[in-house]
Amino acid sequence: MSITIKTAEDIAGMRLACRLASEVLDYIAPHIKPGITTKEIDRLGAECMAAQGTNSATVGYQPPGYPPYPGSLCTSVNHVVCHGIPNDKPLKKGDIVNVDVTIITKDGWYGDNSRMYLIGECSIAAKRLSALTYDAMWLGIQQVRPGAHLGDIGHAIQKFAEGHGFSVVREFCGHGIGKVFHEEPQVLHYGRPGTLEELKPGMVFTIEPMINAGRREIKEFGNDGWTIVTKDRSLSAQWEHTVLVTETGYEVMTLSAGSPPPPAFVTATAT
Ligand code: MF3
Ligand code: CO
Ligand code: CO
Repeated sequence: MSITIKTAEDIAGMRLACRLASEVLDYIAPHIKPGITTKEIDRLGAECMAAQGTNSATVGYQPPGYPPYPGSLCTSVNHVVCHGIPNDKPLKKGDIVNVDVTIITKDGWYGDNSRMYLIGECSIAAKRLSALTYDAMWLGIQQVRPGAHLGDIGHAIQKFAEGHGFSVVREFCGHGIGKVFHEEPQVLHYGRPGTLEELKPGMVFTIEPMINAGRREIKEFGNDGWTIVTKDRSLSAQWEHTVLVTETGYEVMTLSAGSPPPPAFVTATAT
């Protein structure tokens, strides 16, 4: 298989899927506060998808070597890097949580995105990690245009994250997406400028850096087959958008009324 180039019709399908994926996060957002459990977040997500007429791409998802994923979304708290399974433990003040939602529309298109939420007042270190991971994602997004290379995206993210004393998780990456959840290419969040695939209009992929406050090493947690944590138990943050390569640059597809605004350095350079 190779990288799919989306047609105008495909792009219309992806725009809808991505907006709906973002609206699931909008729906959940006001409920995320101290005392809510990640299972309740999962139930709210499923309720929103049912109202939309979409399906969760994660429930029952089973790549080779994995057990079926049980949640309608992923909830990764504090030192959980990704793929946290919703559970009955209430969130408490000072926690940070990533909620990652992937939906499938009636027409079979996938939209994939995630945001961080701060639970009550958080430490300066936690707020800084979440905010700088958001900036790192947008720095990656800003590299996207025809003629740029995947390595430019990874490099921009790595340079910024490591420049702030953080580390970039290597084992998981962004991915092409369309009528398949994870398709080519792999979008690494580290790398060298000018390397790897050249970007062409019509490519659609996610940018979803996982940034650790401490060391980059990760490990599996427990025996659920999914949950990934930092080896040194340091905090980890992640943000994710699905992005289209346009004729002139990029279009962030996973936007909706509740999306946080882009960082100031993006609005400042937008034409
Ligand atoms: N949404 C995740 C991603 O960004 C994948 C989650 S797979 C799951 O690629 F099974 F853990 F839900
Ligand atoms: Co993804
Ligand atoms: Co995702």
